[in-house]
Amino acid sequence: MTRILFNHVYKQYGKDKHPVVKDFNLEIEDKEFVVFVGPSGCGKSTTLRMIAGLEDISQGEIFINNVLVNDLPPKDRDIAMVFQNYALYPNMSVFENIAFGLRLRKQPKHEIEMSVKRASRVLEIEPFLERKPRELSGGQRQRVALGRAIVRNPQVFLMDEPLSNLDAKLRVQMRSEIVKLHKQLGVTTIYVTHDQTEAMTMGNRIVVMKDGIIQQVDSPEQIYNNPANSFVAGFIGSPPMNFIEGRLQESAGKLEFHTNRFALDIPLRQSQELIAKKMANKNVVLGIRPEIISVEPTDPQASPNAVIPGIHKLSELMGADRYLYLDIGTKTNLVVRTGPWNVYGDDEKMTVAVDMHNALFFDRDSGERLIG
Ligand SMILES: Nc1ncnc2c1ncn2[C@@H]1O[C@H](COP(=O)(O)OP(=O)(O)O)[C@@H](O)[C@H]1O
Ligand SMILES: [Mg+2]
Repeated sequence: MTRILFNHVYKQYGKDKHPVVKDFNLEIEDKEFVVFVGPSGCGKSTTLRMIAGLEDISQGEIFINNVLVNDLPPKDRDIAMVFQNYALYPNMSVFENIAFGLRLRKQPKHEIEMSVKRASRVLEIEPFLERKPRELSGGQRQRVALGRAIVRNPQVFLMDEPLSNLDAKLRVQMRSEIVKLHKQLGVTTIYVTHDQTEAMTMGNRIVVMKDGIIQQVDSPEQIYNNPANSFVAGFIGSPPMNFIEGRLQESAGKLEFHTNRFALDIPLRQSQELIAKKMANKNVVLGIRPEIISVEPTDPQASPNAVIPGIHKLSELMGADRYLYLDIGTKTNLVVRTGPWNVYGDDEKMTVAVDMHNALFFDRDSGERLIG
């Protein structure tokens, strides 16, 4: 049973500095796999290091299993951490690298051997136990680092961008191996990454951070479909959501979204909710994901009175998808995700249709989502 509780936690490096973690409140349940995600510098590592006891907490409280750990030394927290730089001892064999922590703890020899064997079997590195780290690939080395964490049988795993040094293919493979490992061992795990794909594919719950502040805590599905604000909406998803500034024009109890180039009908339900929020005739930001835009205006998914005229500027063939970039007279090009067979010429005029039922609306100033 391992629960971690953050209660109004702040961190500032130095007295006069701005806090880099602000009012962090979170409850992590036993056996959960929680991912902290956000851009570089948003305070992910700092938060993780406060759990491990490697940084002190400026304000607030962290509890592990109802025990206040603010002043508990790292060695008494029963936590194992895996970093991006796996820092193996080059002159020791794989076996010795994994066993090192247990030897320090003066565990009996046969117990150490059993633990290392068991961990290396789970990680499929048994054949390499006698090798030196330099004789291993990056992925194998990272598995040794994981092995070193596993044999300690900790109550919490903390992983700080452990896959960042691996090439793309290996990263994908190790992603699912770490998830599998978590299922097997059932140890409460916090995983830090700046990569939204890792967050989406690995986490039971995702904590999205920006400038030291939690933006949203939710399941991957909720984060994607119901983002709390335009930051979360823009950070999660690839290619990213399109944001268009415009005005909600009211006519006969319904709203239209107007820019100076085009107007889009807003379905009745959204219109009513926006009117109830006193947003009629106000400026807002419309959010449309690339996959709710169709290049075939007759698409039954698309709303008939929600088409955008544009000029095709660029295409990216991704294999199964093609991303089209359209100049629609806004600051940035509109990204459309479509089938690879939809080929357009340079500067070709085209019209796309938007499924407005799945469009999102954000406050122009705060970025908050306006309606659910
Ligand atoms: N030891 C330190 N001393 C001063 N500032 C630090 C220290 N460590 C991190 N920071 C600052 O704190 C902020 C958060 O850093 P960090 O937690 O490493 O972010 P992330 O892991 O999300 O990239 C950054 O602005 C960083 O420059
Ligand atoms: Mg970091």
